[in-house]
Amino acid sequence: MALKVALKTAALLDPHAAKSDVVVAGVWAFEGEKKTPPAALQEIDERLGGGVLALAQREEFTGKRDQALSIAPLGKYPAARVVVLGLGDAAAAGAPELRAFAARAARAAQGEKAKSLTLHVPAGAEDHLRAIAEGLELGAYRFTKYLTGTRKPKESLDAVTVVGAKKLAASAKSDVAVGQGVGAAVNVSRDLSNEPPNVLTPIAAANEAQRVAKANGIKIQVFDFKEIRRRGMSLIDAVGRGSSNEPRFVHMSYAPSGGKGSTVRKVASKGAKSAPPRLVFVGKGITFDTGGISIKPAQGMGEMKHDMSGAGNMVGLMAAVAAVRPNVEVHAIMALAENMPDGNAYRPGDVWPSLDGRTVEIVNTDAEGRLVLADALTYAHRLEPDFLIDNATLTGAMVVALGSGCTGYFASNEDAAAEFGAACKAAGEQMWRMPLLEDLREQLKSDVADIKHTGDRMGGSISAALFLREFIGPTKKWIHADVAGPVTADRASGWNPKGATGHGVLTFLSLVERAATQ
Ligand code: BES
Ligand code: MN
Ligand code: ZN
Repeated sequence: MALKVALKTAALLDPHAAKSDVVVAGVWAFEGEKKTPPAALQEIDERLGGGVLALAQREEFTGKRDQALSIAPLGKYPAARVVVLGLGDAAAAGAPELRAFAARAARAAQGEKAKSLTLHVPAGAEDHLRAIAEGLELGAYRFTKYLTGTRKPKESLDAVTVVGAKKLAASAKSDVAVGQGVGAAVNVSRDLSNEPPNVLTPIAAANEAQRVAKANGIKIQVFDFKEIRRRGMSLIDAVGRGSSNEPRFVHMSYAPSGGKGSTVRKVASKGAKSAPPRLVFVGKGITFDTGGISIKPAQGMGEMKHDMSGAGNMVGLMAAVAAVRPNVEVHAIMALAENMPDGNAYRPGDVWPSLDGRTVEIVNTDAEGRLVLADALTYAHRLEPDFLIDNATLTGAMVVALGSGCTGYFASNEDAAAEFGAACKAAGEQMWRMPLLEDLREQLKSDVADIKHTGDRMGGSISAALFLREFIGPTKKWIHADVAGPVTADRASGWNPKGATGHGVLTFLSLVERAATQ
């Protein structure tokens, strides 16, 4: 449920302004040249009858990013707890830092079982109300659907008052509304990824996409198994056929100039000078990856419920696009299947045709992601995108290479890399460019088919990317983002909770918004 967010201009810790369960105040770093504690901290010290500055000194709190000072006012102030959060260097703080700040505040409030929070933003942060609102929604996120009895949280944060020292801009209200919409959209992606795999089957994921699309005025088409086969998406068929949960293919689209009746322009009409750019996104949606006949070891297999996170990001992205309504045409495609071993399952040694007509030799049925993506990319490039972006929990090798908090992305050319790099920097998500090393292409040569779908273990993320590149057709600008690591986290940090993070959505949204202004 969305938070109720109110905006105020008020003095810090004014007891009449803040009757919230928890009060959080952000302060900029005050070490080095600015050694004196900021006015905010001094004011808190005064209002709580002293001792706070001494506590800050004892805990070596200097407002550094990630530092926190937690104070129990013990009757001297209405709130149950006052928290001072360090924001780091004021000059270095942009939208991502303030999003993380607000998320930490919301998480602190949830941790205190608070229903209401007052958040004091320090001077200079008022321009980032959208990011702050995003952070509030992201930080308040919990996945509690399956908890019952005493495990079910009794209280949940539902009201936040954002307090600025100076009068807020005229756009403040709408900035907050957009930010909340974006935060809630990322939470949609998280919810999908956190769902257990017995519940989130390909059909359930498609239904959820349909529900979100309808709620947001997004167009959607869902192809059932019969339609997937009829269209010749045989690689999706191959991966999905071993499961009694049928595969699904989802195509969502948003066209600008709002209102009813706006339609996605015909592929043929593309090239008209005034037409907005067309961005097409694709997500891997393996609702559970057992590895198939090339079955995975039992250890940690449950984590493979998150193997649909790329597709989950597509639903989150479209909800975010609907909140922002940019002047860009956006398509999002989900290739949904469950990878199961079964009498009907595909096997190593099989040869299957792809949607684009080429034949693929199956080497290892655990490399299923690139197969469903190959058909989805063929479908996607036929939409003639100006920019094609896929995202997938594609390889364990990427997590080995970059660790669990960073996406590795591959770019078809320097323009695509520069635009995507700028988008992820603006969004504040950790991503690093990887090389499409041409000599590894050799590994994909097959004796019996046009192409093999896996290469060697070494450089496994790169050969996977090279395989995908075979299916982008004449597309010039293409990005493959291997999000295997950061779509989940083993502890909360920044704006991410433990579990599914929705990592990727903010970067993709940033790419869309930047395309709107070009
Ligand atoms: N879904 C996995 C990749 C993965 C691994 C994601 C760990 C997140 C965490 C993918 O389908 C897979 O199994 N890839 C194989 C490819 C190999 C068989 C060529 C891998 O990475 O081992
Ligand atoms: Mn796999
Ligand atoms: Zn997989």
